[in-house]
Amino acid sequence: MAADAGEPGAEARRLDAADPLRAKRAAFVLDDTVYLDGNSLGALPRTVPDRLAEVVSREWGQLRIRSWTESGWWTAPERVGDRIAPLLGAAPGQVVVGDSTSVNVFKAMVAAVRIAPSGRDEILVDATTFPTDGYIADSAARLTGRTLRPVPAERIAEEAGPRTAAVLVNHVDYRTGELRDLPGITAAVHAAGAQAVWDLCHSAGALPLALDADGVDFAVGCTYKYLNGGPGAPAFLYVRSGHQEAFDSPLPGWNSHAEPFAMSPRYRPADGAPRGRVGTPEILSLLALEAALEVWDGVDMAEVRAKSLALTAFFERRLAGLLPSITPADPARRGSQVALRCPDARRVTAELTRRGVVADFREPDVLRFGFTPLYTSFADADRAARVLTEVLAGTPAPPSGAGAPDTGRDADEAAALLSRPPAPPARTLRYGPHPAQLVDLYGDGDPRVVIVHGGWWRESYDRAHLSPLAAALAGHGVPAALIEYRRGAGSWPHAAEDVRAALDALPGSAPLTLAGHSAGGQLALWAAARDHRRVARTVVVSPVADLVAADRLGLGAGAVRDHLGGPHPQADPLRLPTPPGPVTVLHGAEDGQVPLAHSLAYATRHGATVIPLPGTGHYAPMDPGTAAGARLIAVLAGGPAQAGT
Ligand SMILES: Cc1ncc(COP(=O)(O)O)c(C=O)c1O
Repeated sequence: MAADAGEPGAEARRLDAADPLRAKRAAFVLDDTVYLDGNSLGALPRTVPDRLAEVVSREWGQLRIRSWTESGWWTAPERVGDRIAPLLGAAPGQVVVGDSTSVNVFKAMVAAVRIAPSGRDEILVDATTFPTDGYIADSAARLTGRTLRPVPAERIAEEAGPRTAAVLVNHVDYRTGELRDLPGITAAVHAAGAQAVWDLCHSAGALPLALDADGVDFAVGCTYKYLNGGPGAPAFLYVRSGHQEAFDSPLPGWNSHAEPFAMSPRYRPADGAPRGRVGTPEILSLLALEAALEVWDGVDMAEVRAKSLALTAFFERRLAGLLPSITPADPARRGSQVALRCPDARRVTAELTRRGVVADFREPDVLRFGFTPLYTSFADADRAARVLTEVLAGTPAPPSGAGAPDTGRDADEAAALLSRPPAPPARTLRYGPHPAQLVDLYGDGDPRVVIVHGGWWRESYDRAHLSPLAAALAGHGVPAALIEYRRGAGSWPHAAEDVRAALDALPGSAPLTLAGHSAGGQLALWAAARDHRRVARTVVVSPVADLVAADRLGLGAGAVRDHLGGPHPQADPLRLPTPPGPVTVLHGAEDGQVPLAHSLAYATRHGATVIPLPGTGHYAPMDPGTAAGARLIAVLAGGPAQAGT
């Protein structure tokens, strides 16, 4: 868009701000990686780890066998099926969860053929099917005495005829992302007197479905892609209520028996969805999936679809035809992925991953980018397009990879700092509803020093690496608070707002020393310039004090642009008003992450005291076991008088 052309990222920011689903991203465990592989394995919803821990420790560990009834394990396949049903446009009682998609394809295909009138001797499958469907449809054909005939998806409607017993169609092609006409093909298959079986692996959770209204006979799909159920999460099987009585499973296991615990030698199928079960359900995976499905509460699938289409279109627009797309341009014919032809797809995928953009490739030359509307942002799409453009142009990766040091003194210092075991706080305060809105308190009494950690505002760097410093301060009789804050794309203004909110939430009323390291230095200097009532002085270490220069130099692998959305003047310590209280800046003379010159420029503009630390890189001052760390502790423990060189 012309209005946004001058400032890369502006359109993405505008779209993210207007996105009605944007709050859902916080429901997932994500980091600064741009994750565009949710069409292979969805990200981890935050609801899952605690629930899984509870299932293991209490339901399995304590209740043991009793959990089959008391914890609802036995009925979980149908219960979770009913939780998925609304996402499929299905009334309750028609979906059961268990086994893999492959196994459910087998059940559905054989059952569909068994329902079909005799004399129909062929099964159709879409010619570009995901391989497992083709293998299994072929086996189903041989077992039932039919022939399998692959047909291009766009011709299935006309090819289905009096000889067709059943057809198996992938709703969204796993390679191209093409969306097939489910209502049209289903109607044509029915007109031919046959059964339609749909593989929904790439559409369930990605777009609205209406299986009941569209008359679908059988459907299968996995739950580890857009439903975020986790690796190997069990698949679902939909058997239309009108077919349930006739559903003759080729795998009539004891779980699908009308009276499983009668242990009868004679098989008598259960009524309804349980007839699709086989053996003992995968309880741990199933219950992880059930917890993962909580993220769908209150989600409008029309909004999911609108965002999915907007994301894929935006990504393609940003690529401006860089590579040929094999995803249909017509929004009505695309799922939630963009597939590009790229001669060197394997290498390009590996290079993208190295630069923090995870996509995947399919043989021989297809690059796939999956967009999961619940957690993919337009900023993600923007960064992915930029990084792909750089990779294809042969632009070398920024020197410091994902923002961490690669070599030299910084790398050694970081390794030493990160190898220190985290020190547990005396207590933790929550100052907001977001999982990152926490403050750890160290030592007895109200805090005197408040620490804001760095890490280029990236989600992958949390406060744990500064816990030894906080504990060391407490050991010197200086109670300390260590702030966590919202990070990642959109850090501006969230991270800064969080620092203020955390300061407001601290116990006590004594004046505080506000300390910050690196990106945390930017946040501390911002808070100091905004004159927080309790901040008496500010001590920063290697602060990102000049956002314009940091952005121009691409410091932290482009972190200013990726996480602050650019060098906003209101966020930039150099360009903000001078803080009313004294400011001391410690800066390693051999810092390879943030140049010492930036601190000198800050000190010149704002009259701060600079303490250059010879022979020191970016991290040693934050490590209480180093001489630079001891220096910082002395400065923090003392008053402003300690601040001179
Ligand atoms: C379209 C499609 N069908 C089937 C499968 C295989 O599913 P499963 O491994 O659960 O049997 C996949 C896996 O990615 C798929 O994409």
